[in-house]
Amino acid sequence: MTLALVVLAFTECEAVTYYTVGDGRGWTTPPNITAGFYDDSAANKSIEAGNVLRFEFNGTHSFAAVSKKEYDNCAKVSPIYKASTGWSGGYKLSRGAGMYFFICTIDSHCEAGQKMAVNVTATTSASFATWSPPSTLGALSTAVCAFTLFLRGH
Ligand SMILES: *[C@@H]1O[C@H](CO)[C@@H](O)[C@H](O)[C@H]1NC(C)=O
Ligand SMILES: *[C@@H]1O[C@H](CO)[C@@H](O)[C@H](O)[C@H]1NC(C)=O
Ligand SMILES: *[C@@H]1O[C@H](CO)[C@@H](O)[C@H](O)[C@H]1NC(C)=O
Ligand SMILES: *[C@@H]1O[C@H](CO)[C@@H](O)[C@H](O)[C@H]1NC(C)=O
Repeated sequence: MTLALVVLAFTECEAVTYYTVGDGRGWTTPPNITAGFYDDSAANKSIEAGNVLRFEFNGTHSFAAVSKKEYDNCAKVSPIYKASTGWSGGYKLSRGAGMYFFICTIDSHCEAGQKMAVNVTATTSASFATWSPPSTLGALSTAVCAFTLFLRGH
């Protein structure tokens, strides 16, 4: 019984940190044309591979993960998600360390600054200090995860 719980806990235990894009403002067209608005807000955060970027918006927006060239050109690619009435969801940085580029593909939102380049660093630890679970399930898995780490430490 205890063993089964521990095995479950190990499989459930993912030390994921959620980064909300744009902090309080969410993923939207910056109020004025501010190239680099999202790049600046991402620049001072140390974002490790394996974590999740959380995109939240009201109104009509989309997000697409693109190449540097598509980011530079605001290419009208097929987005990963597009909504006209708001949405929130996560994007897992599963490609390892390196640059990740995101744009909104609606109208000229990207040209107006709704684009972001993130320099993702290699995973260094299993610390989950800034964990913020998005749901009850997340809270449960945090508890299980914390318990697993507790067991491992003893
Ligand atoms: C979306 O609108 C709601 C209600 O006005 C607001 O509380 C929330 O902060 C908004 N979210 C974003 C990402 O702008
Ligand atoms: C946008 O630009 C206008 C005019 O330059 C300025 O008055 C306003 O404060 C700016 N808004 C933001 C959020 O930067
Ligand atoms: C990021 O850090 C630099 C240097 O410390 C600072 O000048 C800049 O204002 C910071 N940017 C943000 C968005 O906090
Ligand atoms: C990303 O960050 C690493 C470590 O700080 C740095 O060595 C690298 O040059 C950065 N890459 C880009 C494209 O800025």
